[in-house]
Amino acid sequence: MNKHVVIIGTGNVGTALARGFSARGDRVVFASRAPQGEAARQALDAVPGSAAGTLAETLTAADIVCLAVPGSALEAVLAEIAPVVPVGTLVIDATNPLDFSQGAPRLALGFSDSAGEAVQRRLPAARVVKAFNSIGAGLFVRPAFTGGAPDMFIAGNDSAAKDEVAAILRDFGWRGAIDVGAIDASRLLEPLAMLWIDYGVRRGHWTHGFSLLGQAA
Ligand SMILES: NC(=O)c1ccc[n+]([C@@H]2O[C@H](COP(=O)([O-])OP(=O)(O)OC[C@H]3O[C@@H](n4cnc5c(N)ncnc54)[C@H](OP(=O)(O)O)[C@@H]3O)[C@@H](O)[C@H]2O)c1
Repeated sequence: MNKHVVIIGTGNVGTALARGFSARGDRVVFASRAPQGEAARQALDAVPGSAAGTLAETLTAADIVCLAVPGSALEAVLAEIAPVVPVGTLVIDATNPLDFSQGAPRLALGFSDSAGEAVQRRLPAARVVKAFNSIGAGLFVRPAFTGGAPDMFIAGNDSAAKDEVAAILRDFGWRGAIDVGAIDASRLLEPLAMLWIDYGVRRGHWTHGFSLLGQAA
């Protein structure tokens, strides 16, 4: 069944997710700070058939909400959306808590907390799944590498929600998802993103992904 997908953020991640959902026939709406602005216009142009509105306008009808904002903006966005996200909504958290204050990015959280957990705490009635955070946005849909198929690692408290995300991933051209546990396993997935970024920075190379060999049946 086609879903009503609200994507918060009109940048690289928001646009890439929108392309994937739109290609599977879902209704895609961008929630933007400036729905009439240039960034929203570019996102709308990149995804024919999509629409844009403010957070308050768009969220109430959502089946799926995707968080695609900078880590530094997450707390403010969560505060704004918490009163309007429908109960039971699948929330896909693609964010990473990156700190750019020293120049090169590094994690602002770790060990005892994560952005994924912060999202679930702020949206207790939503079904939050951490996904899409550990690979570049350009590789979200139909990722192809000469070395083989990559794996997407996901985490969340709700098994059915993770099954939904695995199905979305298959529609996006992935072989499925590797479930690494409850939402506190975001503490593993956010550093994994840092590894992906650090490899890219060191090599000046941005078309890589992770694969888990010898997977359990
Ligand atoms: N880039 C990647 O390849 C990649 C891959 C995986 C995960 N991530 C993570 O996904 C998130 C989004 O990354 P991105 O590359 O899409 O970022 P981006 O290109 O900078 O886009 C972020 C979007 O968030 C919205 N936003 C809301 N509040 C904001 C604020 N206070 N400051 C700036 N933007 C704000 C903006 O849309 P409006 O102006 O329309 O509101 C903006 O276009 C980040 O947490 C990042 O770490 C990135």
